[in-house]
Amino acid sequence: MPELMDWAAILLRWGHVMAGIAWIGTSFYFNWFDLSVRQPAAPVLNGNVRGTLHEVHGGSFYYHEQYWPEQAPARMLAHGGPAQLTLLTGLGLMALFYWYGADVYLVDPQVAHMSKGHAIALSVGGLLLAWPLYYKLCRSVRDDRLIFFWMAVAIAVAACLYSHLFGGRAAFIQIGAMLGSIMVLSVHFVIIPNHIAMLRQIRAGEALDIAHGERAKRVSQHNNYFTLPVIFTMLSIHFPLATGHPLNWVILLLVMGFGVTLRHWRNLTFKKGRSDRRLLLCALALLAAAVGISKTDLSAPTETPKAAALPSDAQIRTIVHARCAACHSDHPTNPTFTTAPLGFRLDTLEQVKAGADKIVQRAVRGRDMPLNNTTGMTDAERAELGAWLASAQDGSK
Ligand code: HEC
Repeated sequence: MPELMDWAAILLRWGHVMAGIAWIGTSFYFNWFDLSVRQPAAPVLNGNVRGTLHEVHGGSFYYHEQYWPEQAPARMLAHGGPAQLTLLTGLGLMALFYWYGADVYLVDPQVAHMSKGHAIALSVGGLLLAWPLYYKLCRSVRDDRLIFFWMAVAIAVAACLYSHLFGGRAAFIQIGAMLGSIMVLSVHFVIIPNHIAMLRQIRAGEALDIAHGERAKRVSQHNNYFTLPVIFTMLSIHFPLATGHPLNWVILLLVMGFGVTLRHWRNLTFKKGRSDRRLLLCALALLAAAVGISKTDLSAPTETPKAAALPSDAQIRTIVHARCAACHSDHPTNPTFTTAPLGFRLDTLEQVKAGADKIVQRAVRGRDMPLNNTTGMTDAERAELGAWLASAQDGSK
């Protein structure tokens, strides 16, 4: 039932993105709110007020108070569902693509030879380890700056390891999934239980133990800093420039550093009401370093093979048929694909010519196609394809 698989993939992706937007949107909003409230000048509605905020949005004016309640309000809303749905749909996507299709999506024989079972075990193992390690770190280290230092070390080790085990795209997704699962499990195991504990205390008329709130806030703030790095990894399948580079894990770390620093710059701006340009410059320097590394082409053989003679149409047809058509065809033969990925078909030379720019980007200059080089395309064939496409483009001018 290939169509059912396609529908499952579409619904999971859709659900994952929508749940992620709802979760991150709310979380960013409350983080901004928490940093933007100010001590009220005038009397307020509740006691124990920590700050107030006036807002205008969508045609209405709003007034908020951030406070420690002394008694349970009649109506109290919480926000946990989207985070859990993001994890469930994300696991569904991992299972459908990266585990069920591990031979195509995870294993890249140019990086490391391994069986489908080993690849799945390495991926699942990483996911299972991530949260307990982070939780242990939070329990044993008080200083948040140290937490971020150790997280950076742990991510560097994991990124280096996975980029030497899996294809680049899979390595990025794996790191993102590990960090994303830490975020959701923090919501599930720390934030929500501490909220429930506080609600119980208020309802029982007991004094509120603020330590619960502080515990929840701490991991919530960590999550805020993890968000930009995780979203980068989730979008990274569209950045073959980064995932396909031999130093892809260093690029990943630098971009993650950029995301965290940018977030810190924004957070401090909310809190202090003015921007600290040094942090912004620091963030941009990390980004510039990532761009700089991505431009060094270490993968290019010292002598880029040049096509000896312009290949004939028949030769190109043979290459494309052997290396691409298993997936990019009206009738893919690769069992993972029921239809051509992104609808990009290469059954005829006209289609090859029409997709020339993209093909050069992904299979001639870039090397992330064929996906994980499952079809074993050689450098010579890339050069031939490049030469033929260049001459076809010249001819059509
Ligand atoms: C094992 C399956 C597989 C093989 C073989 C394969 N591709 Fe792909 N290709 C994919 C998948 C999956 C995508 C979509 C995901 C992505 O963008 O990376 C894709 C996307 C592309 C895109 C982007 C299309 C767009 O509209 O943006 C191009 C270009 C491409 N492939 C070219 C090639 C060429 C050229 C070959 C042969 C030399 C090839 N591919 C072989 C699986 C494959």
